[in-house]
Amino acid sequence: MSKRLKWFIAFDLVITIILLGVYFAPLGEQRPAISTEGDVLVGQALLQTGGCVACHSQVEGPAMAGGPRLATPFGDFYAPNITSSSTFGIGTWSLAEFEAALRQGVSPDGRPYYPAFPFASYRSLTDADVAHLYQALRATEPVEQPSVDHDLAFPFNVRLGLKPWRWLFATTQSLAIDQSSELGRGRYLVDAVGHCGECHNPRNSLGAFIPPYLGGSAQLPGGFEAPAIHGAALLARDWDAEDLSYFLADGLLPDGDVVGGSMVEVIEMGTRYLNKADRDAIAAYLLSLVPPQR
Ligand code: HEC
Ligand code: HEC
Repeated sequence: MSKRLKWFIAFDLVITIILLGVYFAPLGEQRPAISTEGDVLVGQALLQTGGCVACHSQVEGPAMAGGPRLATPFGDFYAPNITSSSTFGIGTWSLAEFEAALRQGVSPDGRPYYPAFPFASYRSLTDADVAHLYQALRATEPVEQPSVDHDLAFPFNVRLGLKPWRWLFATTQSLAIDQSSELGRGRYLVDAVGHCGECHNPRNSLGAFIPPYLGGSAQLPGGFEAPAIHGAALLARDWDAEDLSYFLADGLLPDGDVVGGSMVEVIEMGTRYLNKADRDAIAAYLLSLVPPQR
């Protein structure tokens, strides 16, 4: 065998081993148990403001029993039944399994979730908020109805194909956001609970986030376009803190028009359930992003 061929084979072997490693490496990590108890009422508010209701429920259907079609360039996703049904929902899940799903994007049997489920934002939810959400979902009426299968084109329908993607782009490290100031609270609501960046951050062709932070995206599910919402862009479009805070409750733009696209559901099923202090905090945080950062 020529020296060159030997090198070639060795190189191929190394690549194959790396690929196999990526495929079979376990996702997620064992984390210390969450010690807080969780409060159903606080959790119900979070289900609303976190957008869980919007994605996981049909408008006329029972809460959390499975959501409407989410059309993306990769195919159609349907958020599953996450009611307390033991057969079709997550009634048998432990808090640790729920934590791994929500903050690490890993199912109880170790499979990666698609990033259509915004765990990349929820990774920064606090332990207490994870526990509140868990208790609120346990308290839902069990709905005995199977989830709808996603309708994805090859190769996106191969769930294991997510592993290299996850390895390259996804991080499950919490941003550990300090919420003691108004700006900190605003950042937590924008980055973790409200997952605003899932729609307002630009992405590359592989669906990974790219800078500038909150710089807008033209490739949203349903063909919508989300404008830049960092302070520099908002100020240029005549927003002030008060307008922004009310916008998150009523959808009114500074020129008196009403917002459209998927932002309608974000407000109607989500941010309008925030109290005024929280809406003010989001407004203050967004307007502080001048010039755009990260
Ligand atoms: C943008 C839409 C969207 C939002 C918002 C969303 N989800 Fe989901 N969720 C999904 C999709 C899609 C899946 C399925 C992912 C997959 O199959 O890989 C999913 C899966 C899940 C699962 C796993 C269920 C299972 O049977 O494996 C849980 C648990 C979950 N979501 C909880 C939540 C909670 C709690 C919230 C709010 C904090 C939330 N989701 C917000 C779209 C969403
Ligand atoms: C599901 C995707 C989605 C999410 C999540 C989302 N947005 Fe939007 N947003 C949009 C779209 C699409 C528009 C443009 C609507 C239109 O064309 O009228 C928009 C518009 C806006 C506008 C109006 C900007 C302008 O000048 O017209 C603001 C402000 C805004 N979003 C803030 C937020 C905040 C804050 C969050 C997080 C709490 C958020 N959005 C989460 C999709 C989203």
